[in-house]
Amino acid sequence: MTRTAAEDQQAWNRYWTRWAAEYDEHQLSRLSLPGEREAWSRAFGDTAPPGTREVLDLGTGSGNVALLLAADGYDVTGIDLSSGMLAQARAKVESHPHPPTFLEADAADPPFPRGGMDAIVSRYLLWTPLDAPTAPRRWHEPLRPGGVLVAVDGQWFEPEDDGGAASATARQEHFAEAYDKAAVDHLDFARAGVERICTVWEEAGFVDVRADPLPEPLELDRTHGVAPGHSPQPLHRFSARRAG
Ligand SMILES: C[S@@+](CC[C@H](N)C(=O)[O-])C[C@H]1O[C@@H](n2cnc3c(N)ncnc32)[C@H](O)[C@@H]1O
Repeated sequence: MTRTAAEDQQAWNRYWTRWAAEYDEHQLSRLSLPGEREAWSRAFGDTAPPGTREVLDLGTGSGNVALLLAADGYDVTGIDLSSGMLAQARAKVESHPHPPTFLEADAADPPFPRGGMDAIVSRYLLWTPLDAPTAPRRWHEPLRPGGVLVAVDGQWFEPEDDGGAASATARQEHFAEAYDKAAVDHLDFARAGVERICTVWEEAGFVDVRADPLPEPLELDRTHGVAPGHSPQPLHRFSARRAG
């Protein structure tokens, strides 16, 4: 039976919540390896204009990018729709010297005051919001004029991929069920190429839109291996500026 958009979103939230601990365990094991923290810190920090302070991390998951950027001195807010992911993120707040704030909110329509953010960042989020093509229009509001939008992502679905039918583990089976073919067909960016993402950002009114290959994390993925069911994917850093 075909799910409604709301049912799709609930299925995805349940997926991320159920596997949040496993996801975070893998993330943390990677971050403990030499070069990892620095690579991710650079991937986002290099694009931050001088004076950047308030940063919004969309689809923060278990919060590791938000925590990294907060450790670099930014005031970070991370949002996600998965309660389980947010629980993992919040569990790390107490031991952090300058912790982010983690909130339950939709990355496709972030509920923040006009112009309060100097930067909006995301990692591995672009492919997943239902409203991917319209979401960038809603990112103008919280971003101050001149503020930057930075997203790191890869191509996770092959053109005719149904979300992972040849699954082995319980997590992979759950992924294939949550992100079945009908659901992935609703995700405009799941199979979108680099050019399409840049075009959508330009159409949303962002300026200086560019996509740069990000070889450093790919090299680390090749060296250290990725989570089961994945293979190292070329990553791009998409960046743009709100005119101002
Ligand atoms: C692949 S994980 C990435 C997590 C984190 N950014 C990282 O790099 O580890 C994708 C995350 O996006 C979240 N997500 C997906 N759609 C979302 C939406 N519309 N609003 C907020 N979070 C969303 C999921 O709940 C999940 O935590």
